[in-house]
Amino acid sequence: MTERQTERLSARPDDLARAAEIWRAGGLVALPTETVYGLGADASNDLAVARIFEAKGRPRFNPLIVHVATPEDAQALTLWDDRAERLAQAFWPGPLTLVLPLRPGAPVSKLVTAGLDTLAVRCPAHPVAQAALSTFGGGIAAPSANRSGKLSPTSAAHVLAGLDGRIDAVIEAGASEIGLESTILGLAGPATLLRDGAITAEMLAQALGEEVLSRAANAAISAPGQLASHYAPRAAMRLDATDWQEGEATLGFGEVTADLNLSPAGDLREAAANLFEYLHRLDAGGAARIAVSPIPRKGLGLAINDRLSRAAAPRD
Ligand code: TXA
Ligand code: MG
Repeated sequence: MTERQTERLSARPDDLARAAEIWRAGGLVALPTETVYGLGADASNDLAVARIFEAKGRPRFNPLIVHVATPEDAQALTLWDDRAERLAQAFWPGPLTLVLPLRPGAPVSKLVTAGLDTLAVRCPAHPVAQAALSTFGGGIAAPSANRSGKLSPTSAAHVLAGLDGRIDAVIEAGASEIGLESTILGLAGPATLLRDGAITAEMLAQALGEEVLSRAANAAISAPGQLASHYAPRAAMRLDATDWQEGEATLGFGEVTADLNLSPAGDLREAAANLFEYLHRLDAGGAARIAVSPIPRKGLGLAINDRLSRAAAPRD
């Protein structure tokens, strides 16, 4: 990987024009979204997409999400159906990714789908992501902008901590409001939840008017990126901790005293928004182990517990 100067861009129109110019030339620009920062490249350009895998150290079999400015742009890339239409009406732009059959002939590099005949698409709500995507005018493939297997980035500083010198530019636009990656729903067969996120299975089922299967119930399809160890800090993790042990860095939730508290008031939204930032901070402190309070396993708490258990899983 050649070292390069990573440009710091703002959300001003001239800087977004610069981002689009880099994308058109096959370069890598990290961009803010409401979930986490993404590492973007022109989804139609094989070489540009290959650079994403190289910069992240990501296994090639793990496909990418294509980000679009509008639902119409997603329709041009996929075989859209009534279910997708209903969900886009209810949740787009927003933190929901839909996996649909890839439209034959769509301008999407095979590296994006890792050769699958399905495509993950998302229309993000962040105003800067929206502006950057419309300025570019095409699909942007973007995984989370972290080195593969590390904590996801919820700020431009996190992006630079992992990728400075490995990417062409980053658009700096504050902290990601949601702080957890998008919900992923498989729609190539029966509606199946592939990754928990801010949009819960109940919300999806309600908008669809039909049941949403869990990944366990439909094991035939899965998100290849859902490897057990993921989102991992350097430190070991101890979850559901109701006391603190000597030498641990401590991450609380609710009315407990800890080094950092995800939400003293016990608010799951606040906890989700703080999760990766606080894990980044505690990890930077150099503790050998991070202990975390129990987080309720309901609503948004399901997605938080999903990310925590991946962070705690055995590493290779
Ligand atoms: O919130 C998000 O989704 C962020 C922001 C940047 O949009 N992106 C993100 O991308 O989390 P990434 O690459 O870290 O996670 C994408 C997940 C992976 O688990 C991948 O396996 C899955 O989506 N995926 C992508 N294409 C798929 C497909 N065709 N079928 C099933 N899963 C797919
Ligand atoms: Mg990721």
